[in-house]
Amino acid sequence: MLFDRYGRPFLKLRYILNDECNYSCIFCHFEGQARRRGVYLTAEDYGFATSVFRKVGVSDFKITGGEPLLRRDIDAVVYNIAKTGGAVTLTTNGLLLERWAAKLAAAGLQRVNVSVHSTDPGMYSKVTGAPPAALKAVLRGLREARSLGISLKINVVVLRGVNTDRDSVKELVKLAASLDASLQFIELMPTGEGAHVFEQYYEPVETVAKAVAELGGRPLKLRKELHNRPIYVLAGVAIELIKNYGNASFCSGCTTMRLTSDGKLKTCIYAEPSVDLMPLIKARDEEGLLYAVKTALAQREPRFKLYLARPAEPGVPSGGVHSSS
Ligand code: 5AD
Repeated sequence: MLFDRYGRPFLKLRYILNDECNYSCIFCHFEGQARRRGVYLTAEDYGFATSVFRKVGVSDFKITGGEPLLRRDIDAVVYNIAKTGGAVTLTTNGLLLERWAAKLAAAGLQRVNVSVHSTDPGMYSKVTGAPPAALKAVLRGLREARSLGISLKINVVVLRGVNTDRDSVKELVKLAASLDASLQFIELMPTGEGAHVFEQYYEPVETVAKAVAELGGRPLKLRKELHNRPIYVLAGVAIELIKNYGNASFCSGCTTMRLTSDGKLKTCIYAEPSVDLMPLIKARDEEGLLYAVKTALAQREPRFKLYLARPAEPGVPSGGVHSSS
């Protein structure tokens, strides 16, 4: 296992598969660097890279974009990652899920995270820029995936005037219950295009917590990696509330790094892409790849440092950065 200077293990990798998206969400944080269309890694490249990351203890692989279902070889990408034995989940807006579900299930996809910010078609459309009818297609995709044994998580970005009142929360819980899905409310991050979106729509996730409590939800268990944040249960639905704005402790439990569509490692969602892994992956250079990853990890800085222990002295990686096991 590899650790950074703050003692945080590197356990999860997010693959930003592509840049294109068929939605234009008002708050998009452009993980896919929408204006930097990249030379993409192939499905085989992902297979190789994943097998190397697996060797140093990374066990959880998340596919995101852009919109990953716009990639024509998405099933091959999933297959190549899954065959290494790592857990594979995919984050999508769900519009193309119905079409892809069977192939993704066959490729070994374990879970999809589908964003549904509102159960109201008009509101859904306003937030995503997709036509109101898109919501129906997304729901069909969710049902299809579920029927194929893919587990479901519904992502909701918390937006004032959209989904923080008791009725909206209730409807989202009802939807999740009907799909046997878990539910995750994500606090809005101020990383979108314009500051005005944040000003207009930001609502603390505590407002949702209050609604959940009023509706009879109760805390069930704690999620350790998220600083003992409770997972609530309401109507049989597991509900996670992600507080990521103004939360100084957010970074201490972070075990994730990201790989952009053009092969650059990002040590934090807020960090600029750093070391270029593309040539090493293309050359199938396992040793070089590991060295580059360890070097990046040695420079990995949290955005919020408050709750983190003082870092160990930086050093050039030799065998590994605080390697254990
Ligand atoms: N703040 C919070 N969540 C966001 N997402 C996209 N942009 C933002 C933002 N600015 C969500 C997507 C998806 C999840 C991966 O992140 O809607 O549900």
